[in-house]
Amino acid sequence: MKTELTLHQRTLSLHRFPKRNNETLQAWDAGDEYLINHVEELALAHDQNVLILNDHFGALSCWFSQRHQVTMMSDSFISHQATLANLEQNHCNPITMASTFDPIPKDVDLVLMQLPKSNRHLIWLLTQLRLALPADVPVIAVNKAKEIHTSTLKLFEKYLGATTTSLAWKKHRLVFANANSPKALDVEPFTSWQVEDHDIQLDNLPNVYSGESLDLGARFMLPNLPTGLGNKRVIDLGCGNGVLSVKLAQLNPDITLTCVDESFMATHSAQRNLDKNVPNGTNAKCLTNNCLDGFEAHSADLVVCNPPFHQQQAITDHIAWQMFCDAKHVLSTGGQLLVIGNRHLGYDGKLARLFGKSNVKQVAANKKFVILQATK
Ligand SMILES: C[S@@+](CC[C@H](N)C(=O)[O-])C[C@H]1O[C@@H](n2cnc3c(N)ncnc32)[C@H](O)[C@@H]1O
Repeated sequence: MKTELTLHQRTLSLHRFPKRNNETLQAWDAGDEYLINHVEELALAHDQNVLILNDHFGALSCWFSQRHQVTMMSDSFISHQATLANLEQNHCNPITMASTFDPIPKDVDLVLMQLPKSNRHLIWLLTQLRLALPADVPVIAVNKAKEIHTSTLKLFEKYLGATTTSLAWKKHRLVFANANSPKALDVEPFTSWQVEDHDIQLDNLPNVYSGESLDLGARFMLPNLPTGLGNKRVIDLGCGNGVLSVKLAQLNPDITLTCVDESFMATHSAQRNLDKNVPNGTNAKCLTNNCLDGFEAHSADLVVCNPPFHQQQAITDHIAWQMFCDAKHVLSTGGQLLVIGNRHLGYDGKLARLFGKSNVKQVAANKKFVILQATK
């Protein structure tokens, strides 16, 4: 797997975060290269204020920090950590880090954007750019050509302004736009809905996983969550909007809850949903983190987990594996990990390897999902 990006006689050494010995996934894509090549051709004056949105692992930040003042905004804690590590590794100039829920910085000269996965997140970013940018500031976005649909360009036109695209290069395309639509549109940051059959109303910030409807796995997990936990220490690992935590706290008012997600918008939404849905409040904190990095061994009695199956654009089960390993580390002896997953993902095999076959049991199953319990 390549870790050296060489362009224009300059080489960057780039890694994903967390850095893994047997990594198979590259830390940049052809979209990063396309953006870099395009901007190099523009021959910008030095010291421009460059806003980089959704840099995946820091390739763009490292590149442009050499000659410009860079602000990197991303909702992903992993992207923040990867960017900081790659900046250090390549002895780059310092940059400013922000989340995509922070205000757009002042005096931006150029915006570069890796297009986000969800249209809701894109709409949020475009509305914020439209409100903050003068019309002459170029916005250049990139994605795989097959992910840039006519509907994507319509969103640019509607929420930002005049939009054109480049030819495709290495299966990627650039989108050029300016903040000059007739009127800045108001977009509510939260999307709110009621969870059917449960006394739960969820508010979801734009980049929250399954932010427009309940995840099917979570739906199956809700009626299978444990009661009678007393004052146990519970972790919701990959909490998203916090739906599992809310239900756990409603069923078990005395538990101590820690909700963890790598999305800043997720942990913000989870905290808000706990505050709104648990009548007498909870003993809960929501933490933006990579899995359970930094958690102490034997510090939890139950970990509940509906794991992710991709990192950025890549489908992978290594984060689920990391979550299971971390859960085993933080659980007290006799503590339990409760996992939901699609049948075909084979989490039973993974948990058996970690916890021992006789310590893993199936709690519930339907055609699509299994819920597994592993005891340490
Ligand atoms: C399948 S979703 C589950 C969300 C929620 N618990 C539910 O059941 O609807 C997985 C969550 O894991 C989060 N996630 C992905 N990678 C992570 C990591 N390295 N550390 C912490 N959370 C992560 C994602 O942001 C996402 O919210």
